Amino acid sequence: MSAHITVANTSVDMPVKEGTIGPSVIDIGKLYGQTGMFTYDPGFTSTASCESKITYIDGDEGILLYRGYPIEQLAEHCDFLETCYLLLYGELPTAAQKTDFDYRITRHTMVHEQMMRFFQGFRRDAHPMAVLTASVGALSAFYHDSTDISDPTQRMIASMRMIAKIPTLAAMAYKYSIGQPFVYPMNSLDYTSNFLRMCFAVPCEEYKVNPIVARALDRIFILHADHEQNASTSTVRLAGSSGANPFACIAAGVACLWGPAHGGANEAALKMLQEIGSVDRIPEYIKRAKDKNDPFRLMGFGHRVYKNYDPRAKIMQKTTHEVLGELGIKDDPLLDVAMELERIALSDDYFVEKKLYPNIDFYSGITLKAMGFPTSMFTVLFALARTVGWIAQWKEMIEDPSQRIGRPRQLYIGERKRDYIAVNQR
Ligand code: CMC
Repeated sequence: MSAHITVANTSVDMPVKEGTIGPSVIDIGKLYGQTGMFTYDPGFTSTASCESKITYIDGDEGILLYRGYPIEQLAEHCDFLETCYLLLYGELPTAAQKTDFDYRITRHTMVHEQMMRFFQGFRRDAHPMAVLTASVGALSAFYHDSTDISDPTQRMIASMRMIAKIPTLAAMAYKYSIGQPFVYPMNSLDYTSNFLRMCFAVPCEEYKVNPIVARALDRIFILHADHEQNASTSTVRLAGSSGANPFACIAAGVACLWGPAHGGANEAALKMLQEIGSVDRIPEYIKRAKDKNDPFRLMGFGHRVYKNYDPRAKIMQKTTHEVLGELGIKDDPLLDVAMELERIALSDDYFVEKKLYPNIDFYSGITLKAMGFPTSMFTVLFALARTVGWIAQWKEMIEDPSQRIGRPRQLYIGERKRDYIAVNQR
């Protein structure tokens, strides 16, 4: 199939590429050469930037697949490292492969001891996302032996190091912000239990991981592990397309994720629920969200791709109830506000017509707060989980023989050529 495009008096045939599922794409790579025109698509709403075999989203149906497997099945049956293996290698591991993968990740959990001193340079009140962005970038200075991206072995070692060390760095960012000593990883624990211990253990007391909380957090990590070509993933791919070292590329992804329209939304959603405070104030906020002259938006609602219930939000809502139940939190006013807000928004014409449904961030904040994480850590947890997705996408790009440096074009609307005027004549 091809697409016949007529621009002014020129007609060209552009090839149409078919995916396994989902919409086909018109390959416009030769459009400029043949017509002298670019396409214009700010926000990339109609533009595929790459081919990928990793994640598929059907936003209208509310479907999310990792390597073909529905997120609901993975969240129920897998652990996070099994999901990491699937995203990185394309297949679920056998029992032996899983044991070997867990072992390899576990061996890399410690960070270089000098990283401790790197942390001391931050102000105590620095946002943990600022600290995480910098410390992930700093890994490139500590692990020179895994930054040659043309070497597949080094690529894999860098990938393992990032998946293994990001929980350690995330926990250190938290510990530093509250003035407690860093807790070294404990390799006898599973990935998520180890992370919980690094966050919440103190040297003067025994710390026992609650297995229900650990499983819930592990599931939250699975839900956040990848989401195809979102803003932070596209940032990682673009940074990586120049051949930049992998740690720096992931740091770019962390920086992009921090924005409130992306990963920062979980923090913003919880703050919003706290600000609303009680069920009787909801109508006032719904009114503000609908007012074109008010910049306020319902945080945790709406998505660029999902025009249906975000499948992750459904699992997240169930997890929220499980965690609150396990921790004996019976009457959480924030949960009451969230459930009522969801009920009202889902029946309100404005939200129905614009297909604005709760997204994953709507319930994740309440759950993470109940687990003991402060709001400033929410996006850090998202970054921890998304690291594997960024790496899988980065590797896929580097290993794609058709890969070239990413270089969008522009529609120039500035001044035409003009001559310099001396300062005394301006
Ligand atoms: N509250 C009120 N109105 C909204 C909202 C909202 N949360 N989201 C979108 N709208 C309106 C928007 O004003 C626009 O109205 P109109 O057509 O009259 O101008 C319409 O719905 C379409 O919105 P858009 O901004 O053009 O859609 P987008 O695809 O550019 O933005 C979004 C998607 C997620 C940035 C946006 O829905 C939003 O800001 N949501 C709140 C932040 C949030 O929860 N982000 C987390 C996303 S999921 C996690 C992640 O991937 O990081």
